Amino acid sequence: MAKTKTAFVCSQCGNDSPKWQGKCPVCGEWNTYVEEIISKSNAPLSNFDTFRSKPLLLKDIQTDNEVRIDMNDLELNRVLGGGLVPGSLVLIGGEPGIGKSTLVLQTVLKLDKYKTLYVSGEESAKQLKLRAERLGVDSENCYIVCETNLEQIFTHINNIKPDLVIIDSIQTVFTERVESSPGSIAQVRESSASILKFAKETNTPVLLIGHINKEGNIAGPKVLEHIVDTVLQFEGDRHYMYRILRNIKNRFGSTSELGIYEMCQRGLREVNNPSELLLTQNHEGLSGVSISAAIEGVRPFLIETQALVSTAAYGMPQRSSTGFDIRRMNMLLAVLEKRVGFKLGQKDVFLNIAGGLRVNDPAMDLAVIASILSSNLDVAIEREVCTCGEVGLSGEIRPVNRIEQRILEAEKLGFKKILIPQNNLKEFDNKKLSIQIKTVKKVEEAFKELFG
Ligand code: TYD
Ligand code: MG
Repeated sequence: MAKTKTAFVCSQCGNDSPKWQGKCPVCGEWNTYVEEIISKSNAPLSNFDTFRSKPLLLKDIQTDNEVRIDMNDLELNRVLGGGLVPGSLVLIGGEPGIGKSTLVLQTVLKLDKYKTLYVSGEESAKQLKLRAERLGVDSENCYIVCETNLEQIFTHINNIKPDLVIIDSIQTVFTERVESSPGSIAQVRESSASILKFAKETNTPVLLIGHINKEGNIAGPKVLEHIVDTVLQFEGDRHYMYRILRNIKNRFGSTSELGIYEMCQRGLREVNNPSELLLTQNHEGLSGVSISAAIEGVRPFLIETQALVSTAAYGMPQRSSTGFDIRRMNMLLAVLEKRVGFKLGQKDVFLNIAGGLRVNDPAMDLAVIASILSSNLDVAIEREVCTCGEVGLSGEIRPVNRIEQRILEAEKLGFKKILIPQNNLKEFDNKKLSIQIKTVKKVEEAFKELFG
């Protein structure tokens, strides 16, 4: 019997070593080495080994004028930078149950023009059929196969010759050339390298679905993210309907675009007007609610921030925040305490961003402060007023990017007044706007403007 050979592989960077190590000498991470069984075989890396490379002059390389595959889905097209590039390898990551399989299945079912092969390692063909029925779309051109053996998958691909391949998920796939179990670092690395080779040589795009580990990273080696052309992350709170598709890496377009979906009874619905997240409820007269003209990716949308400030019932005041960085909230509370003189040290503060979204835009600061003060004073902010502005440590309101887009979005949605940082004023021409623009320089000014 052949002796099994094992090696220790760093789960962060994929470096291997014959013995276990506490700290990876390459990436410097601690405690990342795991044991993998390896057997080096001389088999070619993929079944598509006929290609031989030949150097070409850069000026002689043809680009085929970038024919992208239209995914029939505005949000997905947007995130991919205008459609799927032939021969590209796209990884879609996300927590279990967030809707990755649903997104991909409903997309391929709508792509009737293209022959697609959906390789499922997680669900049976029956389950997929049930899901397709639930989605209410049917396709003439979508093949389903439940298979996890990579060599078999390549045989099916050879027979069917699809225009698009889906692999759900990369962690279930294994190749016979590596002896460790599916989902292990060596397996994921080898399988994705073979799939990449296939995609490039046959110019067939491949969508890989990937799992996320406890820390929120894509499970498996970091090299997986280096191998693929595009990494998309599907995120959202499972208890809410809204989902965001973010582009983390894109070799064929910008990474600042993002797509928004809503999980409905019959699949994911594209949300082309993100401000609808906010405009569903009426909070007339309620304190602690403020509206911010935020930008995520490159799209402006108005989002609601809610805060509740109450006297701490227990000795230690509680601070909690959903959808907004809690350290940033603590900083803003310190600014209010030190610069504006509000005694919030003994108060419980709870903050919530509507719709279960996570927003990283610094222009949210002013709205966060406004909702905290509104709740603290128990005075509601007028419904037609929205804000945008970053708050600095000395209580100054700092300028934000894309101010014009924010103002136009607020105007479009019928807001009567917007508070903006003073330093943003010179960037645009406000003569033709019907919305009233108030500039503020300091938190105190914003406070006076909002609460009189
Ligand atoms: P799924 O695509 O299986 O998630 P993943 O592949 O990321 O693990 O999503 C499953 C969840 O989506 C499940 O909780 C049910 C819900 N869902 C709907 O709400 N509506 C639908 O039409 C479908 C198909 C699923
Ligand atoms: Mg799934």
